[in-house]
Amino acid sequence: MRSRSLASLQKILILIAIVGLPWIVFMNVSFGQERKIDSMFLDLDKKYRFPEEWSMLPFELEDPYKRVKNGPPLANVISKANVEWISRWIANPKKVVSNAKMPNLGLDFEEIKAVIVFLSSLKEKEVPQITWDAFLLKKEDDLSEDEYDKMDKIYNNGKGVWGRARCTICHPIKGLGGNVGVGPDLGEITTKINRNWLYDWLGNTKNHFPDTMMAQFRFTDSDIRGIVEFVMRDTQFIPEEEEEEEDEEGEEKEPKSAEPEVQMLTEKEFDNIRKDTALVEKGRDIVEKARCFVCHDIKGISELMPVVEKKRDGLAGFEKLLYEIRCLSCHRIQNKGGTYAPNLTITGSKIHMSWEKEFLQAPDIIRPLSQQMPKFNLTEDDAKAAIEYIEKNLHTKEPLPNPFEGGAPPADVVAAGEKLFYEKGCNTCHAEGTKGGGVVGPNLQTVGDRLQPAYILYHLKNPQQANPQAVEPNFVLSDDELKSLVGFLADHVQNKEGNK
Ligand code: HEC
Ligand code: HEC
Ligand code: HEC
Ligand code: HEC
Repeated sequence: MRSRSLASLQKILILIAIVGLPWIVFMNVSFGQERKIDSMFLDLDKKYRFPEEWSMLPFELEDPYKRVKNGPPLANVISKANVEWISRWIANPKKVVSNAKMPNLGLDFEEIKAVIVFLSSLKEKEVPQITWDAFLLKKEDDLSEDEYDKMDKIYNNGKGVWGRARCTICHPIKGLGGNVGVGPDLGEITTKINRNWLYDWLGNTKNHFPDTMMAQFRFTDSDIRGIVEFVMRDTQFIPEEEEEEEDEEGEEKEPKSAEPEVQMLTEKEFDNIRKDTALVEKGRDIVEKARCFVCHDIKGISELMPVVEKKRDGLAGFEKLLYEIRCLSCHRIQNKGGTYAPNLTITGSKIHMSWEKEFLQAPDIIRPLSQQMPKFNLTEDDAKAAIEYIEKNLHTKEPLPNPFEGGAPPADVVAAGEKLFYEKGCNTCHAEGTKGGGVVGPNLQTVGDRLQPAYILYHLKNPQQANPQAVEPNFVLSDDELKSLVGFLADHVQNKEGNK
């Protein structure tokens, strides 16, 4: 769609931000102090990292990164991907999807045909056929003006949902994005899937792939229709057109890559051979010998290996939420899960639960430059289940020391903290309200609503302790300085005059 040039402008802006900002930071803040680590904080550090300090959890966390089969089940792949795509994929996965994990198994075209016929013989169920307005099945050029406008409305709605859902934090697109490191590149996804499959996948991922690492969003029908329109039409999901190169004389050159074209199985040829039982048997034999079942659940073949079926019917509360939303694809709790998002092991000692509950239902941007949590549309009950669990189970064994136990920080401490905040140059990275300031760190306007004072102290004492990658320097603050700053920041709450 026409947003192609906009998309590349966006890419450039993001690049500038990524490349440029660290320099701004380096120029404004002097690094290089000796990092003296207070022994009390080394002790606290263990609470993140050492099992003997963790609370006993009421159920065993399931680590999505430790799934038995790395690849998706193949029983219904024939309804998901078109045969041309499957034949190119098996021939050389990395040539089709840049970040593919599946190895090239060196099968030739005749073998690949047999494998595809075998896979199609496994089909267990049809993808439900969704009713689409007829014009939505037309190509863009064939739409009347009126139809175009209607389609465009759905498309733009989907673009918004796509953005809030932050699909690109897991999925790279033509090599860009995908920082979580778990989703396939979607840059050519329109050559693979169809709209009915996509609709069904987004509505219930686990129905297709029980162990998937993809989050199950709580989408409405119209959310999904929007995303489908956006994904099936936007140019970012279509292969780049080969640019025609001309040499100096203005003649067209041969395409640069001299690689032989991959042979593709066409729908027509597939139709001719799909019922061939000899091919089914040949395909089964190849699949067994190629050990496809090491990574894929394949009906009739997996029995060669013991399959551990996970029972998930009885899941409830936070355990159910963890499984459905796949919180641990991004977050880590104790020693399970990913490292992309903040470690949640001691969230109960870090965050005010009243803030947390709102955040889970409607995540706001905390850290502007880094990644943001997707909007999953959690219900109030979901959020309650999460809070209850976090309060009960995810905290430090000993409470962190709080300089203002049981009371608000006195006014003189707050005033001293404000002075220090600007003297120390915290504002090069943080704004704290309407006064302006840097955007490298989170805006601290309402940090007192979010972080418990004891945790602010813990953080300021040594930012690298809580997060070894933190760019915030260790200011080696004295106890008095710490107390003032904690007081100043704890006082930053929403319902305060002049702080709206
Ligand atoms: C070492 C593990 C491994 C082996 C062996 C393997 N695959 Fe895969 N396969 C994967 C992974 C992982 C994916 C998911 C996409 C990716 O690579 O990121 C995948 C994806 C696929 C897909 C696309 C499925 C979908 O739903 O999109 C097909 C088809 C497929 N594999 C077929 C095969 C066949 C046929 C064999 C044996 C000839 C095989 N694979 C062997 C790991 C493997
Ligand atoms: C938590 C990370 C994560 C998020 C967020 C996420 N996905 Fe995925 N998605 C995955 C993974 C991982 C797979 C592949 C299945 C697997 O390996 O579990 C996948 C598979 C897919 C596929 C099938 C791709 C293929 O080639 O088979 C599509 C389409 C897709 N996701 C679309 C989306 C959309 C649209 C969004 C946003 C609404 C989204 N995803 C958000 C992780 C994610
Ligand atoms: C696709 C990745 C992803 C998934 C899945 C995810 N989150 Fe997050 N979450 C993030 C990111 C990124 C942040 C940091 C947001 C920011 O700084 O703006 C975050 C922030 C948080 C925070 C605030 C933590 C802090 O220390 O500031 C909590 C609490 C949280 N998530 C809980 C959850 C829960 C519970 C789930 C499952 C229901 C979940 N998240 C699923 C990416 C994810
Ligand atoms: C070089 C830039 C930089 C400077 C200077 C800086 N910070 Fe930060 N600060 C950050 C970043 C980036 C984060 C987010 C850390 C993360 O994502 O874990 C942060 C986080 C914080 C947090 C929230 C911690 C959390 O986990 O949510 C507080 C409170 C804070 N800073 C206070 C201060 C104070 C007070 C000063 C001055 C003494 C200061 N910062 C100076 C970059 C900076």
